[in-house]
Amino acid sequence: MENEHEQSHFAMNAGDGPLSYLQNSSYQGGTLDVARLAIEEEIETKLEFSSEQTSICIADFGCSTGNNSFPAMHTIIEAIKRKHEFSYLKTLEFYVFFNDVAANDFNTLFRSLPPSRSYGVAAVPGDFHRRLLPPSSLHFAYASWSLHWLTEAPEAAADSGTPAWNGGEIVYTRERKEVCDAYLDQFGKDVVSFLKSRVVEMVDGGLIALLLPGAPAAWDPEKEYTMVSLVEPLRSSLVDMAMQGRVSEAKIDSFNIPYYFPTLRQLMEIIERNPSFTVEKIETINATGNYTFPSIHARIAFFRAAHEGMLAHHFGGEIIDDLFDQYEKKLGASPILKNVENDKTLVILAILKKNIRP
Ligand SMILES: C[S@@+](CC[C@H](N)C(=O)[O-])C[C@H]1O[C@@H](n2cnc3c(N)ncnc32)[C@H](O)[C@@H]1O
Repeated sequence: MENEHEQSHFAMNAGDGPLSYLQNSSYQGGTLDVARLAIEEEIETKLEFSSEQTSICIADFGCSTGNNSFPAMHTIIEAIKRKHEFSYLKTLEFYVFFNDVAANDFNTLFRSLPPSRSYGVAAVPGDFHRRLLPPSSLHFAYASWSLHWLTEAPEAAADSGTPAWNGGEIVYTRERKEVCDAYLDQFGKDVVSFLKSRVVEMVDGGLIALLLPGAPAAWDPEKEYTMVSLVEPLRSSLVDMAMQGRVSEAKIDSFNIPYYFPTLRQLMEIIERNPSFTVEKIETINATGNYTFPSIHARIAFFRAAHEGMLAHHFGGEIIDDLFDQYEKKLGASPILKNVENDKTLVILAILKKNIRP
């Protein structure tokens, strides 16, 4: 096994308080409601495993504090149970491996496990781009709102000597093609690593369900926005703080957020680089699912729960409250961004099957 890469700054906000991921991730959780039927159908028609099987293992890669994971694990397990209701496999035992980075708040997850669950549990801390589980042990892999996180922002983006230098910006923007290409390249390498590890861990005939935020191939920036556009008011707030002498410009130049929102075509092309999997289904679904933000404040808390850790890690925790106050004002003042009707973010649902070797 390769050395563990500590990604402490990627962890979502811990605990169950007002700024926690647990309290501010209904948006992400809402997409499962839209994807549930397709996941159940794919389990019913495509999942295969040996008739010798007495236990089924499921892993959630990037589970965070578990609040969105538990309904997903319930959905998957109940669908497998229904499929085998009348077969000799009906006494199957279920085990769920909850994976996230080592700094994730697994305590909150274990404290809030559903008391009536019908499965055994274990935490598997570590980078999901690497091997984490024993060979041929996994029947179902699930990753929701996690695979768009990169192992790291492209190195070139922080290197002023390269054409992909992203000085002054803090994430890829469509105006800088070289930077976009460098992010896409990193995303491709990371998804390839994720799948390479799962090929070893999964049983033949097992399924992977991926739910990740993506972008349409085109949208009108004069009227619309996607998830990555929400970074602009953050950049602008940091620049204001640099003018007040509260952060250095060099710190902004060396900061690039490590995520990428692919188009469906980009993701498809990357998945197809791994011939051990067949794409059973790939489609876009409504990004908000069954959830709409009740206020701008709720949107800020959603954004903060996912970004605070890495911002505090890079710029220092003392600026965070003021930074998000400023961010809220800027988002509220943007005629395009303040209206969620303009959000063209989409979520990609991809279901892959590990090919059965002859
Ligand atoms: C936005 S949260 C999604 C949580 C949950 N799956 C959901 O649907 O709400 C993304 C999670 O992925 C985790 N993550 C990101 N990169 C990771 C990696 N390389 N290895 C393991 N977990 C990772 C983060 O720590 C975070 O908890």
